[in-house]
Amino acid sequence: MEVATTVAEVRARVRDWRAAGLRVALVPTMGNLHAGHLSLLAAARFRADRVVASVFVNPLQFGPAEDFAAYPRTLDEDRELLGEAHCELLFAPTVEQVYPDGGAQATLITVRGLSSILCGQFRPGHFDGVATVVAKLFNIVAPDVAVFGEKDFQQFSIIRRMTCDLQLLVEIVGAPTVRAPDGLALSSRNRYLSAQERAIAPAIHHALQAAVARLDAGDRNFPGLESAGWQSLALAGLRPDYFAVRDADDLQPPHAATREMVVLTAARLGKARLIDNLRVPLVRP
Ligand code: PAJ
Repeated sequence: MEVATTVAEVRARVRDWRAAGLRVALVPTMGNLHAGHLSLLAAARFRADRVVASVFVNPLQFGPAEDFAAYPRTLDEDRELLGEAHCELLFAPTVEQVYPDGGAQATLITVRGLSSILCGQFRPGHFDGVATVVAKLFNIVAPDVAVFGEKDFQQFSIIRRMTCDLQLLVEIVGAPTVRAPDGLALSSRNRYLSAQERAIAPAIHHALQAAVARLDAGDRNFPGLESAGWQSLALAGLRPDYFAVRDADDLQPPHAATREMVVLTAARLGKARLIDNLRVPLVRP
């Protein structure tokens, strides 16, 4: 596997591939890779001839009181895992490569509506930072296809909408959430959990499953479902930010045109803020 640390290097390599008629996939990450990230690489491999993974802890998407400094940086292990996953190119830029003007970055991408709800309410500016860095990565790498995890469902929705609105020439693919055997979605932030907190964290998946079971049974009392989910998380010892039933396309409360619902939650546990979701396709008679 090649490693590129500059924009010029990655551009040159991808330009050569594309000139040779090869299809290029990008998997953007912040590193500290786990089986969830590796599943995205497998999905990328399936859809392209060459796979590029980026590892970049993006300062623009962290709030002032968030974990930018503490975020786990494990580039040596990441490089090893990516090599084993037969990734062709690792793009691991410095902050200066991505933000050459010292972070002033006058231009921000806001996906209105989608960025300010759910997690956006609790992490102001976060999704502007995500959308902006992903647009930059798309412009730097110029992939044909990019793969994102549905674990971060709101992020996935925002990137899909941004790509559509800006008519970017990249296909956006979503990949299913990879979980630990007890249901907890894999996340780099799980390492912030103590053993005791780790033992109660699967309550998130259980609360989502309970809501899905009620929706599958035809229950449409959304406020009731949401408060039951919230309560069960609080009872387990988590501090929920929200527990919401939404339309899976526009993340609005379910409406007449809803074809699929999604139950999303974010909850704090010790030093970690954990998110998860489950989708509920509507079967029409
Ligand atoms: P990061 O948290 O490193 O996640 C990188 C990608 O891995 C995202 O698309 C995320 O949804 C996916 N992912 C994480 N855990 C997963 C799991 N358990 N199952 C399936 N996919 C999973 O998300 C980011 O980085 C950043 O915001 C980024 C998009 C790279 C922009 O900085």
